[in-house]
Amino acid sequence: MILSKNISKSTGSVFSGKNLIAHGAIVVRNEGLSVLSLGNTLKATMSFEKERDYQRCRARIEALCEGSDDQIAKMASIVGVLHNEMNDFFWTGFYRVVEGRLVIGPYQGTVGCLSIEIGKGVCGKAAARGKTQVVEDVHDFPGHIACDERSKSEIVVPVTDESGALIAILDVDSLEKGAFDEIDRECLEGIVAHILGGR
Ligand code: SME
Repeated sequence: MILSKNISKSTGSVFSGKNLIAHGAIVVRNEGLSVLSLGNTLKATMSFEKERDYQRCRARIEALCEGSDDQIAKMASIVGVLHNEMNDFFWTGFYRVVEGRLVIGPYQGTVGCLSIEIGKGVCGKAAARGKTQVVEDVHDFPGHIACDERSKSEIVVPVTDESGALIAILDVDSLEKGAFDEIDRECLEGIVAHILGGR
C-alpha cells in the first residue's frame, strides 16, 4: 500500500497496486500520516474521478478555444465538451445578459426557456447575487423555473468579463438529486473565468 500526499490541498490517496482504494483529507497523527474517511471510499473515489474528468475537459476546452476572442464560440465549445464528457450533465448551457435580462445562449439538452428575469429562478438569483448557486433539490428552491420537469438538481455559475461585469451565467441540470458539489463549483468557476473572463 502506497500513501501519496498533495500537501497544498491537504488531500491524499491510498493505492493498492494500481487501484485507488481511498482518497480523502490527510491528518498527521502520532503514528504517522492517515487518510480520513476510509469508510466513505466510494464517494471519495467518485470525487477523485470527477476532478480528473474536469481536468481532461478543461484541457480540451483550452485547446479548442485557443486564439478565439468570440465569446459565443467559446461558450458553445465549453458546453459541447462538458455536456458530452461529464457524467450526469442533463442540460448544459449559457444564458447571456442582454438588455438587463438573461437570454438563452449556446446549450445542449432539451429545450431551454428563452429568457429569464434577473432575480428570478436559480439562474436569475445567481446573476443577481453574483454568486454560484448549488441546488441539491430544485423542488426545495423557492421560485425555481422548471424548463424540464425531470431536472432534480442544478448548479448555476455567474460569468464575468475581464472588467468584472456580469456577462452570462452557466447553468447545468442533472436528473439526479445532489449531483453537484464543491468540486463542480470550483472547476466550473475556474473554466469560465479562464476561458471567458481572461483569468
Ligand atoms: N432552472 C432554471 C431555469 C433554466 S433551465 O433549467 C434550463 C432556473 O430556475 O433558473
